[in-house]
Amino acid sequence: MSSRKILVTSALPYANGSIHLGHLVEYIQTDIWTRFQKMQGHTVHYVCADDTHGTPIMLRAEKEGITPEALIDGVHKEHRADFDGFLVEFDNYYSTNSGENKTLSQGIYKALKANDKIATKTIEQFYDPVKNMFLPDRFIKGECPKCHAKDQYGDSCESCGATYNPTELIEAYSAVSGAAPIRKETEHHFFKLSECEDFLKEWTQSCTAQGKTLQGEAANKMGEWFESGLKDWDISRDAPYFGFEIPDAPGKYFYVWLDAPIGYMASFKNLCDKNGLDFDEYWKAGSDTELYHFIGKDILYFHALFWPATLEYSGYRTPTQVFAHGFLTVNGEKMSKSRGTFITARSYLDHIKNPEYLRYYYAAKLNSTMEDIDLNLEDFTARVNSDLVGKYINIASRTAGFINKHFDGKLNPSRNNAVVAELKAAADAIAASYVAREYGKALREIMRLSDLANSFVADKAPWVMAKQEGREAVLQEVCSDALEMFRLLTLYLKPVLPKLAMEIEAFLNVDAMQWSHVDASLNAEHTINKYNHLITRVDPKAIAAMVDSNKENLEKSEAVAALVKEEVAGDYINIDDFTKVDLRIAHIVNAEYVEGADKLLKLTLDIGEEKTRQVFAGIKSSYDPETLKGRKTVMVANLAPRKMKFGMSEGMVLAASDGRGGPFILSPDSGAQAGMAVK
Ligand code: 2FM
Ligand code: ZN
Repeated sequence: MSSRKILVTSALPYANGSIHLGHLVEYIQTDIWTRFQKMQGHTVHYVCADDTHGTPIMLRAEKEGITPEALIDGVHKEHRADFDGFLVEFDNYYSTNSGENKTLSQGIYKALKANDKIATKTIEQFYDPVKNMFLPDRFIKGECPKCHAKDQYGDSCESCGATYNPTELIEAYSAVSGAAPIRKETEHHFFKLSECEDFLKEWTQSCTAQGKTLQGEAANKMGEWFESGLKDWDISRDAPYFGFEIPDAPGKYFYVWLDAPIGYMASFKNLCDKNGLDFDEYWKAGSDTELYHFIGKDILYFHALFWPATLEYSGYRTPTQVFAHGFLTVNGEKMSKSRGTFITARSYLDHIKNPEYLRYYYAAKLNSTMEDIDLNLEDFTARVNSDLVGKYINIASRTAGFINKHFDGKLNPSRNNAVVAELKAAADAIAASYVAREYGKALREIMRLSDLANSFVADKAPWVMAKQEGREAVLQEVCSDALEMFRLLTLYLKPVLPKLAMEIEAFLNVDAMQWSHVDASLNAEHTINKYNHLITRVDPKAIAAMVDSNKENLEKSEAVAALVKEEVAGDYINIDDFTKVDLRIAHIVNAEYVEGADKLLKLTLDIGEEKTRQVFAGIKSSYDPETLKGRKTVMVANLAPRKMKFGMSEGMVLAASDGRGGPFILSPDSGAQAGMAVK
């Protein structure tokens, strides 16, 4: 078989959260496939990166009081350590916030524009008038129009599952500032996807020497999307935004989903520059190399429509195949923080320690469809213990000791052991299952072969022979044959269990196994090293502790919050507590009675911002509104806006009162100007 040139990617995880066991389905699935292809002798590059741009990352950094760059740097280190911990071996793990990505994204945009695939259109969007930013749907909250649950997102209700437009929310508010969003016009840049329909229809149905470009289920889904008509894709966002500015469009940024998949190219470009590879050979239109994307089924739309169209109309090649997988459930249910089944990669590594148990379990469950897979924690323990420890490792642990002890590590296998022959004959079928991502099928076959090997050992009972005089030669032959079986099984399992395979290569004293080594054999000249215990059983107590610790995290964060509250309730605050309150001089532009309100006056306050603030203050009992107009006072400017019966209140004025009277509003000394900070 000739060597192929293959580039493989997994979806880029967002740089604002930890890797959890749900993410790992994909990285483990891809890593197994990549390792298998490398064992075949192909030239394979597996690249990935952190997906760093967008509003959530910008706002999270702001909330943490750090720059987005500092946030994504920290997360990058954490992600890398998690992937290393699970033996996910990228050839390059990069970031979308890179020079390479900026150059490629801007270049692709310019090429699309030159191909008349970019349009600009003025649209109306929700805008936060306090935070002065346009709001993505996820940052608009309000009451569900269907079931009336409060505090639901702008696109869907977590309570009843309804999906809707943010315009349909009742009493919508900005999740950033609490203000009622307003509608505001803005010019956006669109990729004319509607003009790519003919190309996409052909591409989604296409087939190469490697098979169909899309899985059957995915191609059907595309059919539905074509039927409902392709809409042009909005690829721009307004400042403030953490991302790349669009060339010749100041204040406009590429939407994160435009530059994220280009991040695949950028990560590879970075690898090429480090290792002297030819980037164009892999990416230019007409390339005869292969490109595979592993993704979750939720991002099919981006990878099977936007992405190939973007590539096609900017002079690049399109993907060879896109492989979508299903979601992870734990114990048959959606992962849940309260049940402790929203398990982070780190907590698995801390408690269970051995990443290969999970790699094995996921592989046993994975196939080529988009069906969800379930991690049943009891089944996980039972299967790992019975398959890996009870069947596979057992073959070596019951035979290697005799070779070490009685024959000084020297082997002397038989010439034609029928079980060895059957194991060798299975190589092609197992390989075909790996290629097709039918890992469950591959492992079922490997376990069937392990059963055969175990039966062979049990029938021959070397532990009995070892006690019988004159049977040394048979003992050596039986144990040598069993170790040859063990070598073959190790080779077959190597894409799934790479670390264990390396340890076994050292024990068997063989070179790093390639698939072609199926045809080699441990012969009479071969000496093995001392056998040391290779793996232990999964301890159900460790599983319970892991689940508990994920519950604990939640309780801990609640406990920390309670502690903070307690501290605040003490006699003192520190200066940081005080400076959190943004006090400003406010000029009372207008004051009026509020119909139906007993205590409130409506104040219009100028605090030096573009727009005035509206504040409802409980001072009606002390003031005639006319006497307030033109006065200056002090207000809390960063109090989250509150929706009141009479409208939004965007702050609070300070006033003194107790049993002796009041409220009396505060007045600054002369000279204080609207907007000045009070500190
Ligand atoms: O859905 C996600 O988690 C995205 N960060 C995936 C991006 S994949 C690619 F297109 F960059
Ligand atoms: Zn609802």
